[in-house]
Amino acid sequence: MKIMRCKHWGWHNMKNEMHLQFSALSQNESFARVTVASFIAQLDPTLDELTEIKTVVSEAVTNAIIHGYDNDPDGVVYISCTLEDDNVVSLTIKDEGIGIIDIDEARQPLFTTKPELERSGMGFTIMENFMDEVEIFTSETKGTIIRLKKHLSKSKALCN
Ligand SMILES: Nc1ncnc2c1ncn2[C@@H]1O[C@H](COP(=O)(O)OP(=O)(O)OP(=O)(O)O)[C@@H](O)[C@H]1O
Ligand SMILES: [Mg+2]
Repeated sequence: MKIMRCKHWGWHNMKNEMHLQFSALSQNESFARVTVASFIAQLDPTLDELTEIKTVVSEAVTNAIIHGYDNDPDGVVYISCTLEDDNVVSLTIKDEGIGIIDIDEARQPLFTTKPELERSGMGFTIMENFMDEVEIFTSETKGTIIRLKKHLSKSKALCN
């Protein structure tokens, strides 16, 4: 007997989400990167797609820690990851830090407010290159939310 996952009962088109929160410590960057990668692995991304998503998580989490919280370990970084339609990855990286003063300026390649830390000002440029959508919401009082979306090239068809 062959048991099939049917469109109406199975995983097809089901929304699947994951939430993480952790202290703003640089040693947690790799934890975040690896955890998100493990979660999205169920969509069978290509190696390139996986690397790109790990890189953008790293960039956004680093920004939250060093810019948002200025390395204050009492800060908390929040990540949500949602898988939809078998091939869409949506990510939200949030901090409750100082906020971005000028978003347009921050998005410019090579713009950085921390040249003394040898930052190259390429974080947002990398995010924009690797993801299909990048949205930035920021406020001096509430912090910063980065919303990222990527369509994977092949979908994991469970109903064929
Ligand atoms: N979460 C954040 N909170 C406050 N400011 C931020 C945040 N993320 C980015 N910024 C501001 O936007 C600027 C540009 O960010 P971007 O990631 O592009 O470059 P960078 O972090 O300075 O350098 P790099 O990412 O190449 O190491 C930062 O220098 C900082 O001023
Ligand atoms: Mg950066």
